[in-house]
Amino acid sequence: MVMSTLQAIQYERGSLRLLDQRKLPHESTLIPVNDPESGWHAVKDMAVRGAPAIAVSAALCLAVDLTKRGSGEQFPGPREAEAYVEDRLKYLVTSRPTAVNLQDAASKLMAVTRKAAQASGATSSSVVSAYIDAAEGMIATDIASNKSIGKHGADAIMGSLQAGGAGPSSARILTICNTGSLATAGYGTALGVIRSLLADNRLEHAYFCETRPFNQGSRLTAYEMAHDNIPSTLICDSAAAALVASGRVDAVVVGADRVTANGDAANKIGTLMLATVASHYRIPFFVAAPTTTLDPSLPDGGHIKIEERPSEEVTHWCGQAIAPASTQVWNPAFDVTPSSMITGIITERGVIQQEHGRINVHAFMVAEGL
Ligand code: MRU
Repeated sequence: MVMSTLQAIQYERGSLRLLDQRKLPHESTLIPVNDPESGWHAVKDMAVRGAPAIAVSAALCLAVDLTKRGSGEQFPGPREAEAYVEDRLKYLVTSRPTAVNLQDAASKLMAVTRKAAQASGATSSSVVSAYIDAAEGMIATDIASNKSIGKHGADAIMGSLQAGGAGPSSARILTICNTGSLATAGYGTALGVIRSLLADNRLEHAYFCETRPFNQGSRLTAYEMAHDNIPSTLICDSAAAALVASGRVDAVVVGADRVTANGDAANKIGTLMLATVASHYRIPFFVAAPTTTLDPSLPDGGHIKIEERPSEEVTHWCGQAIAPASTQVWNPAFDVTPSSMITGIITERGVIQQEHGRINVHAFMVAEGL
């Protein structure tokens, strides 16, 4: 196994390379992604995955494309540059449907681009430069968000364990999928919370689900755990209930791909199962996600489009059939956890707590001026 880097997105102006996550943990291969078409395929085919990493990679592949086009010189004017950016962003957003982060990034980048096109003295170069600067800025913003989520999350988890008297001074956490450096521009969301607990000597142990069928847990989270020497144990997805029932987990923390106005959260398939187990055994269940994952335009989780992936992900393993050829498959990539089962949503701006079975995402966003 190669332990070279946890940096999924390797960018410098004019060049974007993505760590091919389909090949981890055995091979660290970088693939050049220098235009929207290859960016779209890298997202769709899961060379890059994880809601924040998808958004940043897609934004940057268009930045590279625009840089290569001579920073706007080939567009007749600012309006044509704006129209091109809009067209390519609309296309990139179609790559995967469930995570909202790319859609959120596209509308923010489009607003920047439109403003630049309308500015007095605008040229195609000034429009393209505005886009590139904004897309590049997403890298540092995402890492800073994740570090802040880590801190808020570690405090919230320890606070919930100590509520009502002396609790443990370190936590045993269960998580699913990969929500770390590989799923973001760096550090991670739920895995960032685990990193933050470890940094403060408040992590006793992290358990993580293998996350069938794409094995983001056993391939990617295991890779990050080993890289950072995080005390941790891999479990089969189906062992989660038994693990919690045995009393070895204090809290569950997971990522999210989209959180609706009422606090329902879409995340990797199997998350609802963890929430159900946490609720049954009365342990806290936290969702860790940047505010770019909040989608107040949808009233509840029933409105989230859940991606269904090819049946081969379930019936095959490394190209080898593990089920009879005639087997019918249902392979949803995500499920939705109702807000009534979520203790709180940890964002970079603080925790949106559940109150009386409800999480008011809309009110939080208004209060935060988002
Ligand atoms: O299908 P994936 O690997 O893109 O799914 C990823 C997840 O579900 C993550 O939990 C989510 O995107 C948050 S990543 C910080």
